Amino acid sequence: MFAHIPPYAGDPILSLNEAFQKDPREGKVNLSIGIYFDEDGKIPALASVRAAEKLVVEKAAARPYLPMEGAANFRSAVQNLLFGADHPAVRAGRIATIQGVGSSGGLKVAADFLHAHFPTSKVFLSNPTWDNHRAVFEGSGIETTTYPYYKDGALDFDGMLEVLDKAPARSVVLLHACCHNPTGVDLNRGQWQRLAQLLNERELLPFLDLAYQGYGDGLDEDLFAVKTLLDAGGPFLLANSFSKNMSLYGERGGALSVVCPDAAQADKVLGQLKFMIRRNYSNPPTHGGQVVATVLNTPELYAQWKDEVAAMRTRILAMRSALHEVLSTKVPGRNFDYFLSQRGMFSYTGLSPEQVDALKNEHAVYLVRSGRMCVAGLNRRNVEVVAGAMAAVLR
Ligand code: LMR
Repeated sequence: MFAHIPPYAGDPILSLNEAFQKDPREGKVNLSIGIYFDEDGKIPALASVRAAEKLVVEKAAARPYLPMEGAANFRSAVQNLLFGADHPAVRAGRIATIQGVGSSGGLKVAADFLHAHFPTSKVFLSNPTWDNHRAVFEGSGIETTTYPYYKDGALDFDGMLEVLDKAPARSVVLLHACCHNPTGVDLNRGQWQRLAQLLNERELLPFLDLAYQGYGDGLDEDLFAVKTLLDAGGPFLLANSFSKNMSLYGERGGALSVVCPDAAQADKVLGQLKFMIRRNYSNPPTHGGQVVATVLNTPELYAQWKDEVAAMRTRILAMRSALHEVLSTKVPGRNFDYFLSQRGMFSYTGLSPEQVDALKNEHAVYLVRSGRMCVAGLNRRNVEVVAGAMAAVLR
């Protein structure tokens, strides 16, 4: 019956992470998957999140099915966080927000929605982008193409504008709101403003992916792209995640918001998103969303969370400096300044797939084959080892 089924080729990120777990070598270092590890190499349980979880569990509330669109307190908390409770778009009810299953779930629901209601639109992805973006959209039957993003170690802003300027109206443009995955190279504020203008003029539909809020410059600062598009006044989509900034990976806390021209359109969009959800997974799970909502809706926990996110961000910056310093000593004559200028969890190292293979096979240091390094996996104990291994494969 199943003999014709081909073997799964594996996922460039998740299957590599599985291979890392199975690797018996001592001292192995996981710089592959986008997960924040603390100084002890552990995934932290944030104090704010633990306190929120206690409150959720103590309530011992019944667990009926959630509505298809998710819990109301989660959805309003997400809107307040991302758009601001007092923003006219929020007050006018012209944003449709659903609780997703992680932001990947939000991407998938949006992809089905776009395929149904924008059947001739292509999705423009940055080159390069997160390995799964193409798969999610194409899996929903949408054609994808790319726009230039990264050249010679820097943002190719001119190349990006040139291609987007020629994109057909109603094309969807997928943008990383902060901490670009995989390069760590972001647009500056002036560039976001210029881009927002072009997207409006050309009637393109922006789709922001915000998976790393707080890891760039801060929880509020990392919303610059969101606020810029909101103020530009056009419609856009936004998928956001709490996996990384609340260290809640397995709880799949995330949302999808669609900013619409008016409340009547937002209502219809919400209805169609519910239809897509019902066909995919019916309704989201309760627990993780309630933990997220409790952190966001409890002022003391929110303040504590903000500090905890700042601490994670600061530690990553310290690791960037440490790696830069050791590597600059070990490999004189080569410029590693990109480790200092790139933002968020990732750095694009410029290592070739063969060099990445050598790092894994000879040194038990895991990076994604594109050369992407998750800097958040470095700590004071492994940074020398990683720098030594990189120096060896660069020789
Ligand atoms: C990553 O890019 O490593 C993370 O977003 C995890 C994933 O699902 O790929």
